[in-house]
Amino acid sequence: MGFERWFNRTLNRVWGFLEDRSGMPKWALRPQPDFTFKPSYWTGAFVANAFLYQVVSGLLLLLYYQPSVTGTFTACGQPIGSLSSAPAAWCSTYYIIHSVPMGSLLLSTHLYGAYAMIFLAFVHFFRGYYLGVYKAPREFSWMVGTLLLVTTLGMGFTGYLLPYTQISLNATNVGLVLAIRLPYAGPLTAPLILADGTGQGLLSRMFAAHILLLPLALGALLYAHIALFESHGIAPPATSDPLQRRRFTHAEDKKHVPFMPHIFFYITKWALLYVGLLLGIAALWPWQLPTYAGNIAATGVVTEPDWYFLWLFKLVDFQGVTPVLAVGLTTALIGFILLLPFLDRSKQTHPRDRPLFLFAGNSLLAILVIMTVWGGLTPGIVIPPMVVAERLGPPILVNLVVVALFSLRYQAAYRNRLVTSGAIHRLGGIYAPAPSVAPAARAVEAARHD
Ligand code: HEM
Repeated sequence: MGFERWFNRTLNRVWGFLEDRSGMPKWALRPQPDFTFKPSYWTGAFVANAFLYQVVSGLLLLLYYQPSVTGTFTACGQPIGSLSSAPAAWCSTYYIIHSVPMGSLLLSTHLYGAYAMIFLAFVHFFRGYYLGVYKAPREFSWMVGTLLLVTTLGMGFTGYLLPYTQISLNATNVGLVLAIRLPYAGPLTAPLILADGTGQGLLSRMFAAHILLLPLALGALLYAHIALFESHGIAPPATSDPLQRRRFTHAEDKKHVPFMPHIFFYITKWALLYVGLLLGIAALWPWQLPTYAGNIAATGVVTEPDWYFLWLFKLVDFQGVTPVLAVGLTTALIGFILLLPFLDRSKQTHPRDRPLFLFAGNSLLAILVIMTVWGGLTPGIVIPPMVVAERLGPPILVNLVVVALFSLRYQAAYRNRLVTSGAIHRLGGIYAPAPSVAPAARAVEAARHD
């Protein structure tokens, strides 16, 4: 007992010293309410941690990787069967796997870490979508987030080519055909991406984008994203109350849990678990390097991107969907996500109060999952419109019926409960109260909450 008290006192003194001398309370992120000690409130932080791991592992890989398509043998470090020469980019990747101590683990965690980062970014996005975190005052956080998602996918796209395997070169070429058809941006960026039209030109551009341009863009966007988060504070739980305040005051902040060290350690705990899982998975199932680009002995190499672009590849397989149409649809989807805060004008954040957007979100999720699995199972096979309708129609129809029935039932039940509890005057929008009561009651309520 005596030891415990001594230990706590010493720890407090050491922490007090650190806080005072580093000025930590001034630069640490703002305190957070108790309810945020749940992983679902820190999905963005998990994405940021994953990004951090990618930066560290990527810098280590950079010590060995050679961004060149010139045929070499020595860069491979050791004989590889009957191979006489292979592109240096591929050979240096081979060297990392077979000759660098822990190289296979490093490369595999970098690759699986990229998958995890993209997956977590989608989780963060869908969580925000369903819980309406994009509503005022967090519109800009959402828009910057959309750019982060696109940039993260760009990191995956540019990294895919770097080992210079035949499969990655094939898939990159398909992706580039789509990218250069982007309205306005496509023709402008085509010379920048394709360079002089040689393999080396393309690899150099992808390399520069992957290790410098996109990470810088991602870092800058992340800085803006976190600055906005710091300014608005964390979004409160989703609610049906349109008058709920969506920001804490600084006076309230004083009663919350300080970011340093409590929230920081909470996030660090999850970050350590993440790295542990990544190392474990990479140790058990190390990545296998496919054959190099230009290997004339290799037959039957399919054109397939990583899983996060399979949905787009499947879209191009649909009969009648030209590259221009595929790019148009993708641009429209990004536009919808970007402008979502201005399209969904309801004040409630709970998904049950936003049936239209609940339906749209479910449909988007279902389509992405189905097309990803479909693209993985049958890459490059042309799909007639009837089959598309048969596969995608039923889930969308079921979704429509379930959301519509639930919404009608819920609105009737909820409205009745509010009427009997006398709370109807607090709710505007779809539960519009009697005009004589509403404006005054709402003004009083709003003043109380502001
Ligand atoms: C590389 C990708 C991303 C990173 C690293 C990132 C990082 C973060 C971090 C650290 C937070 C603070 C709260 C939390 O941890 O959840 C946050 C919040 C937020 N993010 Fe992201 N984010 C990314 C992508 C996105 C995307 C794709 C969207 C939506 C389109 C988005 C929208 C938001 C919003 C609206 C908030 C405020 C939510 C709240 O206060 O609970 N972010 N993000």
